[in-house]
Amino acid sequence: MSKPLIVITGKNGQLGWELERLHTQYNNQFNFLFTGRNELDLNNIQSIPLFFQQYQPSFFINCAAYTAVDKAETEKETAYNSNASAVGELAKQCAAINCRFITISTDYVFDGTKNAPYETTDVTNPLNVYGASKREGELLAIQNNPSAIIIRTSWVYSSYGNNFVKTMLRLMKERESINVVNDQIGSPTYAKDLATAILNIIVRLSSEISHQSSNIYHYSNEGIISWYDFANEIQVLSGLSCKVNAIPSSQYPTPAKRPFYTAMSKAAIAKDFGIEIKNWKESLKECLAD
Ligand SMILES: NC(=O)c1ccc[n+]([C@@H]2O[C@H](COP(=O)([O-])OP(=O)(O)OC[C@H]3O[C@@H](n4cnc5c(N)ncnc54)[C@H](OP(=O)(O)O)[C@@H]3O)[C@@H](O)[C@H]2O)c1
Repeated sequence: MSKPLIVITGKNGQLGWELERLHTQYNNQFNFLFTGRNELDLNNIQSIPLFFQQYQPSFFINCAAYTAVDKAETEKETAYNSNASAVGELAKQCAAINCRFITISTDYVFDGTKNAPYETTDVTNPLNVYGASKREGELLAIQNNPSAIIIRTSWVYSSYGNNFVKTMLRLMKERESINVVNDQIGSPTYAKDLATAILNIIVRLSSEISHQSSNIYHYSNEGIISWYDFANEIQVLSGLSCKVNAIPSSQYPTPAKRPFYTAMSKAAIAKDFGIEIKNWKESLKECLAD
């Protein structure tokens, strides 16, 4: 019997890249197909049904997304096409062939006014176009596919791609001091840890020992910190001599409004899928060593 096929979008993004790096450990159980914009363009929604007819996957992990948070404020239509309409269509096509659909969402679906970790059932209220487009994608996925799995994550970084860790390392080499906001609180996510969690969820789902009870899950590394704390630890671990100064968000205006507090409870993903969650400092150390 042939092995189940897992299709992964966004192969040139951080999470897609980490999944591609890890997939060889799961080759005995699954076949993998990694796609980028050239193979499956989420802006070309009409092309999606044909892709499913051609490949008939058993699992579909959607890591592709319009992720330019500030640019989304002026490119609303493109953001909604990729993050909402296309996600709805992918979910629908998966439901039609009994393919398990997993898509990634964001902590920016919340408005950040809570002061305890957000639960998966908490009310959403995105403050920016990116967050609103991702929330719309969540709703369409669930509407079109009752067994869709949505994993909300936050502050994603990896040794590959564009992210806060790599930007900080570059700036710390170039400058004597840098200013980083200390009033936006959340949790970083090493993309390699999230990729491992997703593959472990699929192993569970395919062996039917999972007890999935909901559509929405949260995943980040453990620990609740500010961007300033994150930058400080990057400085300490890298040994660079740059001084890190704390500033309020009011001194760092951006086109898109950001929520002040987006820590999320990971209790549901731990309980339903037995996922173990590493501390953010441990994972940052591992990424920097990479
Ligand atoms: N990065 C974060 O801090 C963060 C935080 C919360 C949630 N998330 C979510 O986590 C997931 C993975 O994020 P990531 O950090 O891996 O993102 P990323 O590094 O920005 O990668 C996103 C990928 O999506 C691809 N893509 C964009 N539009 C596309 C389209 N129309 N058709 C096909 N591919 C398209 C991009 O392709 P190109 O390379 O060709 O542009 C890119 O490779 C996303 O759902 C994101 O919304 C990320």
